[in-house]
Amino acid sequence: MKKTIFTLSFILFFGFLSAQHDENKWFYANMHVESAQALKNLDPDGIQILATHTNQSAVYVNEELAHHLHHNILTHGPGFLLRKSEEDAVSFIQKSFESRFNVMDFTITEDAFVEQCIDLVNAQNIEETILMLQAFGTRYHERPEAVQAINAIKAKWEALAAAAGRTDVSFEIVEHFGSPMPSLIMTINGVDNPDEYVIIGGHADSITWSASNAPGADDNASGIGTITEVIRVLLETGYRPQKTVQFMAYAAEEIGLVGSDEIAQTYFDEGKNVVAYVQFDMTNYKGSTQDIAIIEDDHTSDDLNIFLIELLEHYNSTGAHALTYTSSACNYACSDHASWEARGYLASFPFEARFNQSNPEIHTTGDVYSVSGNSNHAAKFSKLGLEFIIEVAKRSTLSTSEVDKPTANVVVNNKELLYEINNMNGKIKSLNIVDTSARNVLSKSDLETKGKISIASLPAGVYVAVFKDANGKSIVKKFLVK
Ligand code: BES
Ligand code: ZN
Repeated sequence: MKKTIFTLSFILFFGFLSAQHDENKWFYANMHVESAQALKNLDPDGIQILATHTNQSAVYVNEELAHHLHHNILTHGPGFLLRKSEEDAVSFIQKSFESRFNVMDFTITEDAFVEQCIDLVNAQNIEETILMLQAFGTRYHERPEAVQAINAIKAKWEALAAAAGRTDVSFEIVEHFGSPMPSLIMTINGVDNPDEYVIIGGHADSITWSASNAPGADDNASGIGTITEVIRVLLETGYRPQKTVQFMAYAAEEIGLVGSDEIAQTYFDEGKNVVAYVQFDMTNYKGSTQDIAIIEDDHTSDDLNIFLIELLEHYNSTGAHALTYTSSACNYACSDHASWEARGYLASFPFEARFNQSNPEIHTTGDVYSVSGNSNHAAKFSKLGLEFIIEVAKRSTLSTSEVDKPTANVVVNNKELLYEINNMNGKIKSLNIVDTSARNVLSKSDLETKGKISIASLPAGVYVAVFKDANGKSIVKKFLVK
């Protein structure tokens, strides 16, 4: 809001433009709807607003008038994206809000490396990060400690990169309009597909009624601790992603998603292709029977949620890393994932508990580490984070999986699911079908490795078929019911 008033007063100050415009100096562009409106108010004859979609406009604008954006409204970039034609300008705002990826594009093929990585996750390291952040006393976005906390996270991540001898890892401090606190972005450049981004993030600020005492151990030192452990493991193993991987620690989430909103808007304006986004905000309070609650509402993506379910079924159904999941909902833009989803990117929010069973101490001076006392819960989220990054940031084309591993073929035909499992030990002990809300919608047991079952009861949608052998090992396959 502050930004708009500032913008408009500048515009009024420069409101002496002539109504005459040189015919040659007009061009097509995309810009934020507020910028387009501000220019229109300044000089109605200098701009035509051709179309508006969500908060982006396609415009035909006079160069002289557009110039005012550059000098007086934004300090980064020209404030608009130049387009060759009216068609380009209009189509850009329409289609870039739709993700170029969907549920069928995400596959699970990197078993050996994922298993190596999740074995390395150590809750002790997460504890260290949480205690370090809690010790600032407050990370309220207007306090100097908030800036110090961002710098401390940067120093910690830089030390991890330096220890691994990496020069392909970079760091950026992002200043904001809406807060004196900056955000932090760490980037590992993609080897093959550097223009495709896979991102995990969480907020670094905290809030309570008392600005000077806001420990924010669970909300959200825990999420930063979870992310820091993902970074440590990836760097320690010499991980080189095919797509570009980024880790974000945001400013000022607690006053209205300020840091993530500005960053996601910039990515959108620049046409950046964010393949998928996962948020970690509150990961260390085990308030529900199940370990991970996948937030399933209008601010998260069904496609990505079901992929997280697949990952959990595939990597965490049995053995040392076994964990359970459920679904829940915020039903409002409760954290930074909503900033990404609002720009049409696929975003998910795996959360510490069901919404109403989560940590009751958040936003109070009682949100301290001793409420949990260890970081075993947060460590589960680091594992999911590793699974997500490694499987999504691999090469875009389908990799060939190892031949001797069990594989599932499933086909939907005439209200039946035809399936065939290869290389499974013995019979199929159980088959469960799970929907995008993590609900078990159909169960069978003791099936032959090839056969068919009726799925006439399933409404249209995306499902995951979970086949388990006698040892509890899962083979997962998604399918569509039209
Ligand atoms: N970590 C919370 C969000 C949260 C709390 C999610 C409890 C699920 C259960 C986040 O930091 C927060 O406080 N968000 C605000 C909204 C935001 C737009 C200021 C909230 O939930 O009130
Ligand atoms: Zn939070």
